[in-house]
Amino acid sequence: NKIKIFSPATVANVSCGFDVLGFCLDSIGDEMVIRKVDKKGIAITRIEGFDLPFEAELNVAGVSALAMYNSLDLSFGFEIEIYKNIKPGSGIGSSAASAVGSVFGMNELLGRPFSKTQLTEFAIKGEALASKCEHADNLAPALFGGFTLVKSVSPLKILEIPSPDDLYATIIHPQIEIKTSESRAVLPKEVPLSDAIEQWANLGSLVHALHTSDYELISHSLRDVIIEPYRSQLIPYFDNVKEAVLNVGALGAGISGSGPSIFSLSKGLDTANKVKDAMHDVYSKTDIAFDIHVSKIN
Ligand code: HSE
Repeated sequence: NKIKIFSPATVANVSCGFDVLGFCLDSIGDEMVIRKVDKKGIAITRIEGFDLPFEAELNVAGVSALAMYNSLDLSFGFEIEIYKNIKPGSGIGSSAASAVGSVFGMNELLGRPFSKTQLTEFAIKGEALASKCEHADNLAPALFGGFTLVKSVSPLKILEIPSPDDLYATIIHPQIEIKTSESRAVLPKEVPLSDAIEQWANLGSLVHALHTSDYELISHSLRDVIIEPYRSQLIPYFDNVKEAVLNVGALGAGISGSGPSIFSLSKGLDTANKVKDAMHDVYSKTDIAFDIHVSKIN
């Protein structure tokens, strides 16, 4: 009647796949304990790590839990404990981890009545509370693992994309907060056709490269001509980090989700660790606190 779960951090967009592509990290995530209780409803009983609302209707994990709970007619309820490791506003899917964790745990306790896609539907409600819009590019990889592509939100269609065996991500999280809603506000409403052509060519070739384990093509496809020029201005030393990681052999780098975290992809753990050192060198010369994670992409 009780389950403890790990709800992973995720990298959304992956340069050319704004709002559709994402991948899952295995080295950082939240923990949650979900308990079946006699009292009906959803109660958040403990939150550690960050200061977040206890009222279920105001809490991302609570909103997705309520979306699922209200779709059922149960004679019992659930209590949720949240041990938050992913800082809100860090760009690695903090709200998605919360939104997914509660519904995943409840589904397990109920004997898995819902598919992962249905769980994503409930989690979208929680995500929307945080980012003011319904997108699933962090939710899908948190639930399915690996790389996912959200083909459409309505109706929700998620594709699982394979990835090469030796693909690693290195993520630096500068400790400044950028709210997703704010970093969406800086984006243009219209894009030139020539940029759109370049972007969808890159997204198509990145997906192809992931299918065929073509590291060189991954490297050539990790470009973002539409979003990065605007958002990178909100991230101190973004260009320096990008240059430094490419110099030590990274396949590419870009903004993780809506920032400020910066992700980089590498072939092999050795290179991923060199990328970590290169990121460290750039940020240790500044007065901004940061942390860095290396994760295998499974
Ligand atoms: N695709 C979203 C964005 C992810 O970039 O705004 C952040 O939640």
